[in-house]
Amino acid sequence: MMKENIIKHNYSVSRQDREKGNNQNSFLIWFTGLSGSGKSTIANALEYRLYQEGYKTYALDGDNIRKGINSDLTFSPDDRTENIRRIAEVANLMIDAGQIVLAAFVSPYKKDRENIEYIVGKDNFVEIFVNTSIEECEKRDVKGLYAKARKGEIKDFTGINAPYESPKNPDIEVKTDNISVEESVELIYKEIQEKLKK
Ligand code: ADX
Repeated sequence: MMKENIIKHNYSVSRQDREKGNNQNSFLIWFTGLSGSGKSTIANALEYRLYQEGYKTYALDGDNIRKGINSDLTFSPDDRTENIRRIAEVANLMIDAGQIVLAAFVSPYKKDRENIEYIVGKDNFVEIFVNTSIEECEKRDVKGLYAKARKGEIKDFTGINAPYESPKNPDIEVKTDNISVEESVELIYKEIQEKLKK
């Protein structure tokens, strides 16, 4: 196998050096939840809050990943697994680069979310379950995709004709049926506050 001939080079600038330079700990904040649950909206608002406080961040979501590096992937179970694996590997590089990474993906399968934790390491992973009921997501239907899925125009649509396996023990859970984006950000910020500081 090719892999056998790939030998790691030791670089002089370490993750620790970069974290120190950025005056922060680097890690991954992963948002999982149904389409339209508010993952990207909350991730965006949280990133803005972190940015205002001087933290170095980067946000990954369907817009910059599924249109680019993962444009070859569909929504079949196997492709979703590969989608999440590649995102976790990209996030892992960014963690090494000293960044706080925010990632908002449906990530409906438990085994795929466990793989993220395996790839980046438990200490570098914060899992946030954006728990919005399917009724509420369908009512919002910001992108009109639920209506299409109901008409049978989208196959494998999460929550309609493809499963969503809810996290049983997320680090943080936000129930957006009842709380606002601002309240969600406040709740998450309080939970990660200690982890941010070097
Ligand atoms: S994941 O399941 O592989 O994690 P991902 O987060 O990248 O999904 O993409 C989900 C987004 O793609 C949804 O928010 C929605 O806008 C769009 N989408 C298009 N088709 C589907 C589908 N069949 N199931 C879920 N989301 C879909």
